[in-house]
Amino acid sequence: MTLVLGIETSCDETAAAVVDDRRAILADVVRDQLDAHRDYGGVVPEIAARAHLEAIDRVIARAMDDAGIGFDSLDGVAATGGPGLIGGVIVGAMTGKAIAAARGLPFFAVNHLEAHVLTPRLTRGVDFPYLALLVSGGHCQFVSVEGVGRHRLLGTTVDDAAGEAFDKVGKMLGLGYPGGPAVERAAEGGDAERFALPRPLRGRDGCDFSFSGLKTAVRHAVERLPPGPLAAKDVADLCAAFQQAVADVTADRTANAIALFRADCPDGATLTAAGGVAANRILRTRVESVAEAHGLSFVVPPARLCTDNAAMVAWTGVERLALGLSDGLDFAPRPRWPLEELAG
Ligand code: KG4
Ligand code: ZN
Repeated sequence: MTLVLGIETSCDETAAAVVDDRRAILADVVRDQLDAHRDYGGVVPEIAARAHLEAIDRVIARAMDDAGIGFDSLDGVAATGGPGLIGGVIVGAMTGKAIAAARGLPFFAVNHLEAHVLTPRLTRGVDFPYLALLVSGGHCQFVSVEGVGRHRLLGTTVDDAAGEAFDKVGKMLGLGYPGGPAVERAAEGGDAERFALPRPLRGRDGCDFSFSGLKTAVRHAVERLPPGPLAAKDVADLCAAFQQAVADVTADRTANAIALFRADCPDGATLTAAGGVAANRILRTRVESVAEAHGLSFVVPPARLCTDNAAMVAWTGVERLALGLSDGLDFAPRPRWPLEELAG
């Protein structure tokens, strides 16, 4: 059995986890920084980096404690090496390297996007190749996942990521940060038909996304309401309409992505979803029915493994350890690191 410690610090969660090669999660600690950023309505990179630095040692100690092991029992250390807010990535990567160096263990600089798209292999052992819908705060793309380090980008957003659109709409409606979960909650009981919102790119070829026009349409709808504080009913109806529009567009894009994926991987039988927005229940349900209509099974990790966590980072380390793909301690953390630039 091999055991890998994973460290995640690319945005506003300080996380550490221990995962083994039999897909068991022995520890999974996530400490968010919501209180530190709340007053600013979004993540402030300098505050995030400092908060990671203050929390990281305790978060790792807690993960090792939960797993009931010492550093001597580890077979490798994996840390997110990018993409992300560079101050935070440096904190996690340097900590991971220090542990690896002190214990003579292999070090894995993990691509955060690859960690998200490999999560369905941790939770359900999905076989390559599969189609992944990655929908998070920073990314929104369809990827053909053909192996560890082997990904083909089929489509991406031409402007905002889906989570970014959720966050901006949440902010516009006074729901705080992060907007996604708040918009989903506020939409319960809302009337999705009252406001007519656009479905950007629906019916077009390919599987790119666009969300900025949708976000602007929400702003215009808000501006047309009577001045003064928004009524709870208006907020609920707007959230329901926005969420419905995102789900409609994603369902349309998914059908096209499946066709593109199938053209190259006729034996691929699974569609997976990952990233924070994959926690959204309406979106999941819509995407699942498209997958079923096309004869693909749909695998989506539990919500806490869809949002940022370190179990996915540790798992990517497990996968790379099995293939002998470790990184040197001279790895330089990267703010930008597209999946297509991963070495095989
Ligand atoms: O994957 P993630 O935790 O971090 C990134 O790598 O970006 O995704 C965070 C994003 C945020 O934009 C958040 O608003 C969104 O995921 N999100 C949701 C939900 N839960 C989180 N969006 C819609 N519905 C949700 N339930
Ligand atoms: Zn993420």
